[in-house]
Amino acid sequence: MAHEVRGVVATGKGRPVSLETILVPDPGPGEALVKVQACGVCHTDLHYREGGISDDFPFLLGHEAAGVVEAVGPDVKDVAVGDFVVLNWRAVCGSCRACLRGRPQYCFATHNATQKMTLKDGTPLSPALGIGAFAEKTLVAAGQCTKVDPAAAPAAAGLLGCGVMAGLGAAVNTGAVSRGDSVAVIGCGGVGNAAIAGSRLVGATTIIAVDVDDRKLDWARGFGATHTVNAKESDPVEAVRELTGGFGADVVIDAVGRPETFKQAFYARDLAGTAVLVGVPTPEMTLELPLLDVFGRGGALKSSWYGDCLPSRDFPLLISLYLQGRFDLDAFVTETIALDDVEAAFTKMHHGDVLRSVVVL
Ligand SMILES: NC(=O)c1ccc[n+]([C@@H]2O[C@H](COP(=O)([O-])OP(=O)(O)OC[C@H]3O[C@@H](n4cnc5c(N)ncnc54)[C@H](O)[C@@H]3O)[C@@H](O)[C@H]2O)c1
Ligand SMILES: [Zn+2]
Ligand SMILES: [Zn+2]
Repeated sequence: MAHEVRGVVATGKGRPVSLETILVPDPGPGEALVKVQACGVCHTDLHYREGGISDDFPFLLGHEAAGVVEAVGPDVKDVAVGDFVVLNWRAVCGSCRACLRGRPQYCFATHNATQKMTLKDGTPLSPALGIGAFAEKTLVAAGQCTKVDPAAAPAAAGLLGCGVMAGLGAAVNTGAVSRGDSVAVIGCGGVGNAAIAGSRLVGATTIIAVDVDDRKLDWARGFGATHTVNAKESDPVEAVRELTGGFGADVVIDAVGRPETFKQAFYARDLAGTAVLVGVPTPEMTLELPLLDVFGRGGALKSSWYGDCLPSRDFPLLISLYLQGRFDLDAFVTETIALDDVEAAFTKMHHGDVLRSVVVL
């Protein structure tokens, strides 16, 4: 039996999203039906709506969610009805070449639900990042459900499902930031501020926040930035160098994802430093750099998908730190909203008014 619920759908490139009745099938083998409790609005949802990710409209948006498992299909063993879960977009397969080499955080064949959720007329929906959680219920692969401590507030816990994990992991996993390091983060939205919070958590001593919006820089201080730079007022490369003894930071994270910000990250690194790209570029963007500088400056240029996280390892760990008061996930939740407020939340995100608007159901 299909469940008739409401969901936020992007019907065409650049068109405002709309709240539609959608049909969610009962879980088949390897699938789980999840009653969504909260889902954050991530910039990637907006990229989908703008056609920046693919042309597979209509999209069922939302992918940063927590909820309770309502039903599981045959053969599902790792999650059960009633479990409180954070949804992930890296349900590791266990058998691809990355998994077989013991690197499941790079899994190249992650699982999604096999059955399609549809509009009422049967049109199949493309769920954002294989999740689609701006909906009262969603159907995912069971491996996309990561069980965590139900003491966590759903609006905060769900943020681990994408932006916070992506930012924190870009610093801690991909960039391997550790104690005593200097770090600069370009773009301090939800993702960038999570990179800042992660850098503080692992003991970075200099944490430089760069943004074009002073409100974001105020938030960044709260998450652990030791210095802030408004890129409209001063050249971020010069500023980062000045704040690091003239050398540049050990790790620079680009949480914007534009050629100019990646170039800033490239040149704001110390020699042998690491630049991490976590912001998502659009298809027409290209990068030009003197190859001699790529060679001569040494170090590493990395990109970070989902913070190179392993949900089964990282989500329970971060929820534990959150519940101990050592990692302030609540501070990322600027406002809680209803399902029909997602379009307005995009506008607020665009204007820089929020770190995260979180739909609460
Ligand atoms: N790699 C991943 O796995 C992953 C996961 C989630 C999100 N993302 C991407 O990360 C990026 C950030 O997401 P978000 O939700 O934090 O978005 P956001 O819109 O909340 O934040 C972006 C921030 O960048 C700032 N900014 C814009 N232009 C700038 C510039 N030239 N210099 C400095 N700062 C600038 C904005 O003021 C804003 O504070 C997006 O591209 C999103 O798609 C990537
Ligand atoms: Zn795999
Ligand atoms: Zn996201």
